[in-house]
Amino acid sequence: MPSKDDDLNPDRRAFLRTAGAVVGASLTASGATAPLDAEQAQPLTAPPMPEVRIGFVGVGSQGAAHVRNMLQIPGVRVTAVCDIVDERVKLMQKWVVEAKQREPAGYSRGPRDFERLCDAEDVDLVFNATPWEWHVPVCTAAMKNGKHAATEVPAAMTIDDCWALVEHAEKYRKHCVMMENCNYGRPELMVLNMVRKGVFGEILHAEGGYMHDLRSVKFSPQGEGLWRRAWATKRNGNLYPTHGLGPVANCMDINRGDRFEYLVSMSGPSRGLQQWAQEHFPADAPQRSERYVLGDVNVSLVRTARGKTIIVSHDTNLPRPYSRIHLVQGTRGLFQGYPDRVYVEGRSPLHQWETADKYRTEYEHPLWTDLTSQAEGAGHGGMDYIEDYRLIKCLREGLPTDMNVYDAASLSCIVQLSEQSNARRSSAVDFPDFTRGRWKTATPLAIVRA
Ligand SMILES: NC(=O)c1ccc[n+]([C@@H]2O[C@H](COP(=O)([O-])OP(=O)(O)OC[C@H]3O[C@@H](n4cnc5c(N)ncnc54)[C@H](O)[C@@H]3O)[C@@H](O)[C@H]2O)c1
Repeated sequence: MPSKDDDLNPDRRAFLRTAGAVVGASLTASGATAPLDAEQAQPLTAPPMPEVRIGFVGVGSQGAAHVRNMLQIPGVRVTAVCDIVDERVKLMQKWVVEAKQREPAGYSRGPRDFERLCDAEDVDLVFNATPWEWHVPVCTAAMKNGKHAATEVPAAMTIDDCWALVEHAEKYRKHCVMMENCNYGRPELMVLNMVRKGVFGEILHAEGGYMHDLRSVKFSPQGEGLWRRAWATKRNGNLYPTHGLGPVANCMDINRGDRFEYLVSMSGPSRGLQQWAQEHFPADAPQRSERYVLGDVNVSLVRTARGKTIIVSHDTNLPRPYSRIHLVQGTRGLFQGYPDRVYVEGRSPLHQWETADKYRTEYEHPLWTDLTSQAEGAGHGGMDYIEDYRLIKCLREGLPTDMNVYDAASLSCIVQLSEQSNARRSSAVDFPDFTRGRWKTATPLAIVRA
C-alpha cells in the first residue's frame, strides 16, 4: 500500500489523529478550522494556459477512454503515459501517434514510476485513472511537482487522505479535480437546469446511489477484478458514493451555500460475493475461501447544514438492473431516474408521472445542446466527453473548475464516514468542513455553455 503524505500541516494532522481516537467515543471527525492565509484563500483558479499537456497515469479501461476523448479535444497534447503494464503504455503511445501528435514518453518501471512522470517538464495536468489505493499518492505527487491533478472516483478512501488532497491543493495552489462523470449526464444536467429555473421549487430532498451488479467484474482475472474485490474484504460502508451523490449535491448547492453536515449509515449482510464464488469456481479455488466484510447493500442518510436530506446507496454484489436512483425533490415537484420521470404540480396530470422526454426541448442543458454530436460514441453515453471537455476549457481559460478539491473531499469522505457510522450501530458522524467555512459564500454552479 502506498504511503500517505503527512508533511503538510503536522499540527492539524496530530489534532485529527487525536480526534480520530475520540471518534470512537464522540463520533466527530470535523474540527479542522485553521484559518487560511491570503494565498490559500484563492486556491480555486489558476492562470490560463493555451495548451494543456497531459500525463496519464493508469490507462486501463477508464483511463484509455479518457485518452481517446482528450485526443479529440482542441488544445490538448498527451505528452506522457504511465501504467504498470507496459503493453497498455505502448497501446496509448500508438493511439497518440495515430492522432498526429508526437509519441508521448512512456513510464512503466513499476508502481511508483508515476513519480518520474510527475517530475517531467512537459506535463501540466496529471490525469489519474489508477485503482483506488493509488489515487492520493498520484495526485499529491502531481501537485507537489507543480502539476494540476485530475482523478477518477472516489478521490480518496479515508478522511485523512481527503485532507491530504485539500492541503496539497491549497499549499501548491493547484487544481485537484475529481472526475465525477455522472455530473455531466444528460438527465443530470437537465435536472440541474430545471432546478436553477425553479421548476421544482425549493429543493428539500434527494436520493442517489450506485446500484450495479459488479459480481463478474469483481471476479474477472483482468481489469477491476485485479483490485476491486480486495476492498470488499477490508471495508464495510459505501465504497463508491460519488456517482449517486455528485449530481444531486450540485442541485443542492453543496459547498456553495450548503454543506453535508452529518450522516447515519447501515450495511446489511454480505452474501453476494460468497455465493458467486461458490457457484463459479472449482472447490479448491482460492476465491472460494475469501471472506468479505462489505455488506451487499449499504444505505446512508445525509443531513445538510440547511436541514435538507439525502439518501445514498451502494449495492454492487447482488443480481439487479443498473440504477443510480437520481431523485431530486422540491416544494413544487420532483424528478426521478430509472426510468426518467417528472412530476410538477400544476403542470403534470394530478398524482401522475410524466416521461422526462416531454421536458427535454424546454430544459436541455446548453452543454448537451452544444456538444451532443462531439460526445456521441464516447464513454458512458457521452457524458465522459463532456466532462473532459469542461476540464480542458476551464484550464485553458483560467476559470475555476466545475468540481474542485473541496467537492472531491466532501463526496469521497463518505467512504470512511459510512464505515464509522455503520460500525457504531448507525450513530451519527459529522462531516469535516473541508472548505473551512467558505461554503457559506461560494457561488452556486452556473449553467454554462460549451
Ligand atoms: N467514472 C466512471 O464511470 C468510472 C468507470 C470505471 C472506472 N472508474 C474508476 O477509474 C479507475 C480505474 O478503473 P478501471 O476500470 O479503468 O480499472 P482498470 O483495472 O481497468 O485500470 C487500472 C489501470 O491502472 C494500472 N495501474 C495499477 N496500479 C498502477 C500504478 N501504481 N501506476 C500506474 N498504473 C497503475 C493498471 O495496470 C490498469 O491498467 C478507478 O478509480 C475506478 O473507480 C470510473
